[in-house]
Amino acid sequence: VARNRVCEVLGIERPIILGPMAWITTASLVAEVSDRGGLGVLGAGFMSSDEVMREIAATQKLTQKHFEVEFSPMPDMLDSITTIVEEQRPAVVYGVVVPAVNPELMKRHVVRWKECGARVVIKVATVERALAAERLGADAVVAKGWEGGGHVTPEATTCLVPQVVDAVSVPVAAAGGIADGRGMAAAIALGAEGIELGTAFLVAEETAIHPNAKQAVVEATDMRNVITGSCTGAPCRQIANRLSDELAEIEATCLRAEAAERLQTVAVQSLRKAMLEGDVEGGAVMAGQIAPLVKSIRPAREIMDAVIAEYGEVVSRLSSFPIS
Ligand SMILES: Cc1cc2nc3c(=O)[nH]c(=O)nc-3n(C[C@H](O)[C@H](O)[C@H](O)COP(=O)(O)O)c2cc1C
Repeated sequence: VARNRVCEVLGIERPIILGPMAWITTASLVAEVSDRGGLGVLGAGFMSSDEVMREIAATQKLTQKHFEVEFSPMPDMLDSITTIVEEQRPAVVYGVVVPAVNPELMKRHVVRWKECGARVVIKVATVERALAAERLGADAVVAKGWEGGGHVTPEATTCLVPQVVDAVSVPVAAAGGIADGRGMAAAIALGAEGIELGTAFLVAEETAIHPNAKQAVVEATDMRNVITGSCTGAPCRQIANRLSDELAEIEATCLRAEAAERLQTVAVQSLRKAMLEGDVEGGAVMAGQIAPLVKSIRPAREIMDAVIAEYGEVVSRLSSFPIS
């Protein structure tokens, strides 16, 4: 009997995960994705513990379904993350393995999360990290390739996903450069059992970002996606604009350390500026390389239905595709 382990492990009906996005994946979008059978993920990245608690409570009011809370478990944050998990009992905890965290310490926290009944999903960008996630006790991993929005990862999705699938025994969801049923079919063909979408959900009607930012994503064409912040060691993708030109100028003309310091000043709050205030020239409209395939602002439900419907069409086309 065919089984989809991503759905089984996460307690969802459709193997579509909402990629956590700091400031962006908040209660209304998270609840909608979960209600429609996928997995909504709260982006708790820059939130204080109180804000996370409030956002969890707001989401719980909107949906009875499973949703996740995403944390970047920096060493000094682990205790407060575990307190939140113990008090709020989220069905799933979603994290990224941070090299600064001692694996034994991290493992002790993962054990406590699981004692609270939470399933643990860890997002990885290399095979080594996927193996480390499995050792920590992850129930599933999301393998994110370099096409994806947010922080740039080193390997392309098409190369990373099959390697991670071969390396670990837990189910794998693919992320990075997927926005439609063709992308989903490709991910499943590579061995993934689910997908995570970030850029595609940026423009969902329920996403609480400024309409200017959604419009900038919808209007993005190929070759407009640039990488900024390489000098900081944490480069991000964004749609080319005045800010990205300024950042590129600084990186091209300054020594690395000076560039990193100046970028810190220019780029600080840039995501917020674009996404919440609507300044799409002076702020960072972060989106992945797949943005040109994201063509309209519509409800999250329609985005998910379209992906699943097109996936079905692609699979039937493939099954009768003549190869000789
Ligand atoms: C604006 C933006 C912000 C993001 N913020 C986070 C974050 O805070 N934490 C995280 O784990 N991933 C973050 N991501 C990555 C997404 O969760 C997801 O993995 C990625 O967008 C998938 O690739 P795609 O954009 O091609 O769909 C962000 C992505 C975008 C576009």
